[in-house]
Amino acid sequence: MKTVLSTTSPSAIETECLAVVVLDHAEPKSQGNGKPEKPAPKVASPDSAISSAAAELIASGELTGKSCEMVLLHSPRGLKAKRLLLVGGGKAKSFSAYELRKLAGAAVRFLKPRSLRDLAFITPNMIEASEAVKATVEGAFVGDFDVDTYRSDRKDQRLHELTVVASANGDPKNLQRALDEGRTLGESQNFTRELVNEPGNHMTPTDLANRARQMSEELNSPALKCEILDADAITKLKMGAFMSVAQGSEEPPALIVLRYEPEGAPATPVIGLVGKGITFDSGGISIKPSDGMEKMKYDMAGGAAMLGAMRAITLLKPKVKVIALVCASENMPSGKAQKPGDVQIAMSGKSIEIINTDAEGRLVLADGLYYARQLGCTHLIDAATLTGACVVALGMINAGVFANNDEIYNRFEKALERAGEKMWRLPLDEEYREIIRSGIADIVNSGGRWGGAVTAAMFLKEFVEDTPWIHLDIAGVAWMEESKPWIAKGPTGVAVRSLVEFVKGFENKG
Ligand code: BES
Ligand code: MN
Ligand code: ZN
Repeated sequence: MKTVLSTTSPSAIETECLAVVVLDHAEPKSQGNGKPEKPAPKVASPDSAISSAAAELIASGELTGKSCEMVLLHSPRGLKAKRLLLVGGGKAKSFSAYELRKLAGAAVRFLKPRSLRDLAFITPNMIEASEAVKATVEGAFVGDFDVDTYRSDRKDQRLHELTVVASANGDPKNLQRALDEGRTLGESQNFTRELVNEPGNHMTPTDLANRARQMSEELNSPALKCEILDADAITKLKMGAFMSVAQGSEEPPALIVLRYEPEGAPATPVIGLVGKGITFDSGGISIKPSDGMEKMKYDMAGGAAMLGAMRAITLLKPKVKVIALVCASENMPSGKAQKPGDVQIAMSGKSIEIINTDAEGRLVLADGLYYARQLGCTHLIDAATLTGACVVALGMINAGVFANNDEIYNRFEKALERAGEKMWRLPLDEEYREIIRSGIADIVNSGGRWGGAVTAAMFLKEFVEDTPWIHLDIAGVAWMEESKPWIAKGPTGVAVRSLVEFVKGFENKG
């Protein structure tokens, strides 16, 4: 998709389709019968030609302005555009960049099946201009993505050109930077989604490592280095927890190490991004029920998010050192697979009693996190489709966030705000520690049903100790069960944008 910035008057733009947001300005009645006022939709553009073109339709009451409502007008009077798409944006009072991102995606998804390939989107002026430009581009890229790679009737419905129409008051340099940044973030998120969408037979640990290497070669940046550690190297590092998961599979594991060291970056901080890369999770000997098992190809979504984030970071060039580690393995049952009751020694030296071989993500991450510290990471963040319990707790709207340190959590919360992703903090009280005590080893790998997301995080905490650390449990949000107006069903690429904003937040701040 070509992306173009325009600060010309919207009515003068020649395009197949010009889109404008329509907001509902109705106030809830303070007195009277308590019924809210009828919606009062208004076009979110100061261009009077746009409001006149939409006036008749708005007066008809056919458009209420509710979120993602779409009406397409042909040959709009007084405009150079062939069509005017009115995009409902919900209540004016609560409108934000978060909403705008969705609307841009929804507009793109509205045009795609109608064979319209060009869109000019007017950014509403109540949001700061460069923030609005960035959110629009991000949303459009997210909306443009569809998972049709394996269909023989595949339609090429990608958008060709997106024009982002911004207010002429903004500094053009800043606006262009916002556009480029939005594009990099959107494309990197889609790169992650492509990886996550691949079925297990096309995305083995070796395949994932190859895709990481290929991505880093394509970026061709002196600041980015890619190294792949194979089973022998992983064994040599004494990663007993990681290898215990890998040993049951015919497919060899891979530890993907990407180092981003830009010229002029201070020696510290070094941010460690650690991702769970289970390319298929059958559960192992503690095998999962077959219903829904096919979905466990997305158990590498955390690892794929780290690769997408590294792609964006390399292109955006913040002066901060970052090391990404993706622990890639299958989790399979076989005569060589580990068994419940086995005891494994992690790289840190801690002994782990395996209660359930399906609690494998925390095993690979235990060694990944510990190794990241050995490589000199001063701050850690991991992302993993770690527990069904997190999905029970938060559903498919919020990811779970855990932190062993309030300062790093506050930083991360700011990144979430900038990225427009929803995550909710869950506790890590010491009292939970006793649930994962073992009778014969230092720790068990499963604390059972209650508080499952928390006990999984407590397990990881054993291996990060005092290093400031964030853990993201993305099990419920890495895959959409149904499509929404702004996003296709399937992989979401969640966490990529927040990870990048988090890293950028360390620039020049130590
Ligand atoms: N990959 C799963 C978690 C998961 C569940 C991801 C649903 C996406 C959707 C993880 O490896 C797992 O199996 N966790 C177990 C842990 C239990 C055995 C302690 C779970 O959540 O049931
Ligand atoms: Mn599992
Ligand atoms: Zn898993």
